[in-house]
Amino acid sequence: MTTDADLVTDAMSRVVEASSLDELNAIETELLGKRSALAQSQKALGALEPDQRREAGQHIQNVRKEIEAIVAARRALLEETAQTERLAADRLDLTEVFGTTVPWRGHNHLVQRTRDELEDVFVGMGFAVAEGPEVETDWYNFEALNMPHAHPARGMWDTLYLRLGDPETVVLRTHTSPVQIRLMQAQEPPIYAVMPGRCYRRDTPDARHIPTFNQIEGLVIDRGISFADLAGTIEVFTTAYFGPDIHSRLRPSYFPFTEPSAEYEITCTICGGSGCRTCSHTGWIELGGCGMVDPAVLAAVGLDDETWSGFAFGFGIDRCAQMRHEIPDMRVLLENDVRLLRQI
Ligand code: FA5
Repeated sequence: MTTDADLVTDAMSRVVEASSLDELNAIETELLGKRSALAQSQKALGALEPDQRREAGQHIQNVRKEIEAIVAARRALLEETAQTERLAADRLDLTEVFGTTVPWRGHNHLVQRTRDELEDVFVGMGFAVAEGPEVETDWYNFEALNMPHAHPARGMWDTLYLRLGDPETVVLRTHTSPVQIRLMQAQEPPIYAVMPGRCYRRDTPDARHIPTFNQIEGLVIDRGISFADLAGTIEVFTTAYFGPDIHSRLRPSYFPFTEPSAEYEITCTICGGSGCRTCSHTGWIELGGCGMVDPAVLAAVGLDDETWSGFAFGFGIDRCAQMRHEIPDMRVLLENDVRLLRQI
């Protein structure tokens, strides 16, 4: 005959064998469910005398409680093990290194690095750094710069207009010169500042042009500023950025917002001045425009041209990067070819 102790011992060995929660659930049903030996014994109680029934019923309850406690203890252990396994499987090793090669570290794009370096050169010369919006109104991009509507000089910039407001009133700025205007409106002279940023033109891409490019604008407004200050500043900049071996020159030119105006050129670093495809066989590369701020521009921002004078310049950042790193074709700067990006 099976005793209570046998039932409990048997249950214990069955429960300990269960290696998963599913297995344990199945064993629990066998031991305590409707078809279990215990359930059968409980059913048989009805046939007993009342006194015997009470005593036997108490035994069955005790056995059931013992088995339930054994199952609960095993379940707690199995749940803990399952939780530990789940956590181990979910863990991400963020320090994992594939193979034996050390991963390549990224760095800023050459144009961004050039922008930072140009800023550093000018900050070293005492200039502050300012910025303005890439979406501009016609007034800031042209009119305040001494180019009223229908002024022929507007044709110098192939402009991209935005469908905002009245037709042809909002543009993607064609140069950083509108930031000069914003700066003069925002602060009293003296002003010594550079203003880097992105510009947009409907230019056909070629070895020296891309439609989205970057300029760094310079503006000095003070008392008694002359063209000699402009020329000296550009010369110091050229040596600081390109080194002493690069020759530069200022060539007379025209901009509506400066008078006199000049183009700033350096010897083409691709051919060393002998002429090549990049410099259209001239031996020189234009890096930017410059000149003395036109009195009409000072008037547009309410500055008295008897008291204040100044100079301005606007250099192409991509062009500076191209010359400094001897890149024959500027278009590669936009191609995102990692073989090039890793080199520069
Ligand atoms: C101007 O944009 C004038 N705002 C510069 C200026 C500022 C003159 C202050 C006087 C006083 P320009 O259009 O020449 O000028 O452009 C200046 C420089 O920007 C160019 O010499 C070139 O280096 C760069 N640049 C112009 N267009 C492009 C382009 N499509 N792709 C790359 N660089 C360009």
